[in-house]
Amino acid sequence: MIATSIKELFKSASLQQEVQINGWVRTFRSNRFIALNDGSTLRTIQCVLDFENTDESLLRQITTGAALKITGTLVESQGKGQDVEIQIKDIEVHGTADPETYPIQPKKHSMEFLREQAHLRVRTNTFGAVMRVRSALAFAIHDYFRKNDFFYFHAPIITGSDAEGAGEMFRVTTLSDKQPPLDEHGAVDYKEDFFGKETNLTVSGQLEAEAYAMGLGKVYTFGPTFRAENSNTSRHLAEFWMIEPEMAFYDLDANMDLAEDFIKSVLKYILENCEEDLAFLEKRLLDEEKTRPQAERSEMALIEKLRFVVDNHFKRVTYTEAIDILRNSKPNKKKRFEYLIEEWGADLQSEHERFLVEKHFKCPVILFDYPAKIKAFYMRLNEDGKTVRAMDILFPGIGEIVGGSQREERLDVLKEKIDELDIDEKELWWYLDLRKFGTAVHSGFGLGFERLVQFATGMGNIRDVIPFPRTPQNAEF
Ligand code: 4AD
Ligand code: MG
Repeated sequence: MIATSIKELFKSASLQQEVQINGWVRTFRSNRFIALNDGSTLRTIQCVLDFENTDESLLRQITTGAALKITGTLVESQGKGQDVEIQIKDIEVHGTADPETYPIQPKKHSMEFLREQAHLRVRTNTFGAVMRVRSALAFAIHDYFRKNDFFYFHAPIITGSDAEGAGEMFRVTTLSDKQPPLDEHGAVDYKEDFFGKETNLTVSGQLEAEAYAMGLGKVYTFGPTFRAENSNTSRHLAEFWMIEPEMAFYDLDANMDLAEDFIKSVLKYILENCEEDLAFLEKRLLDEEKTRPQAERSEMALIEKLRFVVDNHFKRVTYTEAIDILRNSKPNKKKRFEYLIEEWGADLQSEHERFLVEKHFKCPVILFDYPAKIKAFYMRLNEDGKTVRAMDILFPGIGEIVGGSQREERLDVLKEKIDELDIDEKELWWYLDLRKFGTAVHSGFGLGFERLVQFATGMGNIRDVIPFPRTPQNAEF
């Protein structure tokens, strides 16, 4: 007899073999057919019970959500929908699930309802599939960098710097003696606090990754990052995971080449390794789309869209070219974009990004050479003195998925920028050291992991691609 996962069972068990599996009941029909799932795969295995010889009290415990151990023989299935099934010899109940109170019943639940059941929703087909794809993507990411001679670098979570300079940080303080120390004005006195200075949860591991790239050559981070941006959108989380490669001696072109190759490679991995889950997610989307008007339906189904991204070049366009395109376009009958983009130098809104990607180019777009004024302090200034070597990668249905740049490696130019932005030079002394000692051209980018998972799974809301989402007013679990 073999104890096995359901995935393994479908792969390698042979007929008439004695098998043992553990899992949760999805459905129990006619007091006879148990559909069991153990999370190893999307599929359930049908287990057939000889109910005439089964104790009444045991039968009553077999309900949706109950955890069972089943021992039996693998046989050819007589019914439709599956090739094999298990003829049950023995059932053990690990734990029951009261049908009156177990929330995940075999019917369609709304996404809002399932968000309130974040601890149980992974037992549904949709969330099982999304989380398996998420895990596969994480694996593919590490694999890509390992194969390309990058070192995995662990950036600190607690930092004293605001890498993006956007002031969207969560402050860190102690709860010792119930309250952080206060100064004579009643304000928190961070000098007296645990670290002796103000600290926050990191918004990006980039600055520290730069230090390590300037010694190890090619590094990447893959960890949680935190932003206190009060935006309740389907693309923003307060806690999200970011992948940040940083490479010494790479300029912006090399950075773009890497980003494109990297994204294609990890998407290719899931196309090859998550076929079943992707097919399920694709069907789910198609069903959902049927309820929408034709004009709002996407032109490509999920898997086709993933293949398209893997097989086609990302279009590279400067910010200035993009503005020209937008000014000369008419997104709808009523208005042109020129009313929206009054002058060169304004930040693009998501409607502009969507237009470029979904209507104009109809493929992923790398926008680069942005106005310095709308980008972070560390980006390398171009010869024109007004644009920086920044790049954003925009994806259909997602918008910005990557933000990156070539870094300012010239000490004098960087210092000038820091002064201009009124950033305290003392806070960045170690970052400036990197420009004093063996400075060199270097570049990197940050990929928002949840936005990638959203693209890969077609999920409309970022809260549904991370196990326990953190958003404003929401940290229940
Ligand atoms: O564009 P961002 O802010 O860039 C940085 O943090 C750079 N330091 C990265 C680097 O060069 N090493 O963020 C990078 C990506 C965005 O493109 C987006 O995909 C994702 O992180 N992101 C978020 N994802 C979910 N929720 C949020 N609140 C996000 N903010 C950014
Ligand atoms: Mg950005």
